[in-house]
Amino acid sequence: ITLLFCLSTDADSTCPKDSNPLQLEPSEVIGEHGDEVIVNCTSSSEDHDGMYWINGDNRTDSQEDAAFFPYSVSLSDYNVTAECKIKVNSSECGKELGITIYKNPSMVNVYPTKHVKAMVEGEQYELHCDIHEVAPVQNLTVRWYKDSQLIHTDSFTDTIKTQVNMSSILTINISRGDSGVQFKCEAQLDFGPSGPVTPVLKKNTAFASLDAPEFKGNTTDLISVKEGDDVTLNCEAEGNPPPSFHWTRDGVNLMANTSNLSITQVMAGSVYTCTAHNYLGTPTKHIYVDVINTMAGPAVDMTTPAASLMEYVDFWMAGCPLILMPPEIVVRFGDPVSVNCTTSETDAQGMGWEAPSGGTGFEKGPTVTWMVESLENWYILAKCYITRNNGDQCQVMPSITLYKTPDLVSVTAPHDGPMVENTESKLICKITNVAPVQNLTVKWYKGNEVVWTETFKNLSVTPVNVTSTLKVTPTKEYDGARFKCDAELHLGPNGPEQIPATSSEPHVAVVNYKPLIKDCPDHYVGMENFRMDMVPFKAVGNPPPTLQWYYEGEPISAFQPLTRNHSGTYTLEVRNSLGKSNKPVHIEIEYSPSFSCNKHYEVKEHSELQPECKPKGNPIPDIKWFKDGKPWEKKPWTRRDNGNYSLEATNKYGTDFHKFHVNLFLLIVIWDSECIFQYAEGNPVPRVSWNYTSAPNVIKATGGSQESIVVTGATSTNAGVYICVATNKVGSVSRSFTLIMKGLFPLIWWLLIVLLIVLLLICLIIYCKRQTKHGQYNFVPNKPRDTCPQEHAGIPLTTKSNA
Ligand SMILES: *[C@@H]1O[C@H](CO)[C@@H](O)[C@H](O)[C@H]1NC(C)=O
Ligand SMILES: *[C@@H]1O[C@H](CO)[C@@H](O)[C@H](O)[C@H]1NC(C)=O
Ligand SMILES: *[C@@H]1O[C@H](CO)[C@@H](O)[C@H](O)[C@H]1NC(C)=O
Ligand SMILES: *[C@@H]1O[C@H](CO)[C@@H](O)[C@H](O)[C@H]1NC(C)=O
Ligand SMILES: *[C@@H]1O[C@H](CO)[C@@H](O)[C@H](O)[C@H]1NC(C)=O
Ligand SMILES: *[C@@H]1O[C@H](CO)[C@@H](O)[C@H](O)[C@H]1NC(C)=O
Repeated sequence: ITLLFCLSTDADSTCPKDSNPLQLEPSEVIGEHGDEVIVNCTSSSEDHDGMYWINGDNRTDSQEDAAFFPYSVSLSDYNVTAECKIKVNSSECGKELGITIYKNPSMVNVYPTKHVKAMVEGEQYELHCDIHEVAPVQNLTVRWYKDSQLIHTDSFTDTIKTQVNMSSILTINISRGDSGVQFKCEAQLDFGPSGPVTPVLKKNTAFASLDAPEFKGNTTDLISVKEGDDVTLNCEAEGNPPPSFHWTRDGVNLMANTSNLSITQVMAGSVYTCTAHNYLGTPTKHIYVDVINTMAGPAVDMTTPAASLMEYVDFWMAGCPLILMPPEIVVRFGDPVSVNCTTSETDAQGMGWEAPSGGTGFEKGPTVTWMVESLENWYILAKCYITRNNGDQCQVMPSITLYKTPDLVSVTAPHDGPMVENTESKLICKITNVAPVQNLTVKWYKGNEVVWTETFKNLSVTPVNVTSTLKVTPTKEYDGARFKCDAELHLGPNGPEQIPATSSEPHVAVVNYKPLIKDCPDHYVGMENFRMDMVPFKAVGNPPPTLQWYYEGEPISAFQPLTRNHSGTYTLEVRNSLGKSNKPVHIEIEYSPSFSCNKHYEVKEHSELQPECKPKGNPIPDIKWFKDGKPWEKKPWTRRDNGNYSLEATNKYGTDFHKFHVNLFLLIVIWDSECIFQYAEGNPVPRVSWNYTSAPNVIKATGGSQESIVVTGATSTNAGVYICVATNKVGSVSRSFTLIMKGLFPLIWWLLIVLLIVLLLICLIIYCKRQTKHGQYNFVPNKPRDTCPQEHAGIPLTTKSNA
């Protein structure tokens, strides 16, 4: 129990909460990794049983009589802890030091991580900012700047204390105006304003520059090594993002991703090719490795750094008494080649050709010939050397270009189906197995016209397959156009005069386009029974359009015969999947003249034929009149014009005749001097009749067409108006007369007479005698002033037409 008690009193927890006498100065430490800091632990009470520090697993000696205890803490361990302890009143109190160990970033690196094809508006890509070896990451702030403008701040929540590598990723939109803009990434540790120790804060920055790889040295190197020596090939390149490397030897993949390639087994005449790749480019470097035959005793100064091929050649050419004929060769792969090497040197030990094939022995000279029946090595390195009597050796190399025309040139469209009007399409020309590609020119033809020429920058000694892409935005004229591409090798003045171009088969473009109506007239004249399918026009369009005619908005059949009433405006509509076009056409239907008139006409004098005799016809026909077979000029009808007529109507489509008889009507009434109706004449013969108030003593007498009236024993009842009317088809003429009784007696007189008569009757009866009375009458014209003079006789009076 006592032991347990002692153990428990020894524990921290027994330190009374409010009476911890310890204070640390500083209370918290922020220090750079590797630093040392001194921390002063002071006790408010000198009365204690000992002070000591615990640093990780280490414990200092206890100090009994001191009020303070300075202690040095090493910050080389990220997980360091330090605690000051004191024993008071048989309990133990402690104060732990807060320690933050920081490490400024060792490196900051910015590079893009998304392939950026072009700085196209709206293109997005990611920038990575790698921050190397930083601690603690939770106090790291990454600031992104676009030029000098802060655009993004990044922080991290990891609680790891040790140093780490972190990345901040920024997604940016590139717009047209951003070309040349610099993106900056700044990494800084941030401990707030009230850090008790001001740490050394470093800002590490890096700029994003989008650079394609660029070789530090030349893109073509020649290296000479002694047989059996090791060599390191240099392909160092700079670029952002940092490039990756790829090596081939004579086209064989070496599976090495390094900028410097160490080779132990050097193969004579090899060409090493290195590519440096990042998103922005993949340049290629060729290194020609020449192995110096130690047997021949090279005079090459091996301390000279590898120079470029030309420099190398120049170097040797300068003082080397060798002349090559020809010095430069352009030869087809597989063709024979022969080069004479001649020296002017008289005291040479000997000379010879060194080459993979066709080399010579060590000969006396002065001419040695390198001859190959068939040159079938793409990386040919042939050299002619001479060894002087003093043992010096020098060499010259002919420049050899091997070429090969393409096996096949073909044009294809990357997408099936036809092109579409005004929509960009591509055509691809594939050229198979051509060398050297840097001398290749691809010419695109549309018909016979060159529309695009492309050359190639990539260097290659061996045959490659290349493609050339033609972008076309076709119009409808492109439909049926023949595209072809020609692959031409231009090999310079030493090359063959002309290598025939290798042509592709033509590619016939099919372009879909909206239909169009061509060569369609605005007006068109057709004969009767004309059909719309007779209207000439061309409807072009792809897919072939459908045709439809419309009349007054309604679709009509193109095969429906049109009659003379169907002249009008018709609309042609052509339509396919890409659209439609319209064309209005005025159609005039024409026809030959025809009559539909009466055989007989009865015409009133001075009037017209009723109904009029007009021929139908389009165009309006010309009309000729004939009377009794003789031409006759149409004039107002008169009474002498009775007869047989014929009409002749003519237009460009024909002539029609019509024969008819004209019977002229007239009515002539003549009154005599007494204004008594004398006779009436007319055609037809007029009928004369009287209108009057009938009375028993008025008798109508009819004779022929004449009618007369006789009034017997006119009395006053017969007085009144008598109208004489002469009528025929033409009309009627009337004249009225008034009958007036003369010598009228007063009524008294009448009574006296009656009386007298009665008396007389009595007398008569008596004398059986009879006596008759007799009256007198006369007609007087209605208008007394109109004396109806003699001169008027024969002049027809006004007719009252009944028509
Ligand atoms: C520690 O603190 C005491 C009391 O404040 C002071 O006298 C002493 O100088 C300090 N020592 C160091 C090393 O700071
Ligand atoms: C220790 O005990 C004494 C008397 O018992 C008291 O005066 C003193 O304050 C105590 N010290 C602490 C640190 O508690
Ligand atoms: C470090 O960062 C953390 C988290 O942001 C914060 O709580 C802490 O106070 C910082 N440290 C210092 C010393 O400022
Ligand atoms: C590259 O070639 C040029 C000329 O051909 C020469 O001046 C230069 O020194 C060469 N550089 C290297 C690194 O070989
Ligand atoms: C090389 O020399 C031989 C003999 O001297 C001669 O017949 C031949 O034509 C020469 N060839 C060339 C390419 O000059
Ligand atoms: C070129 O294409 C042909 C046929 O597609 C193929 O056989 C050949 O290997 C290709 N050559 C290269 C260098 O890719």
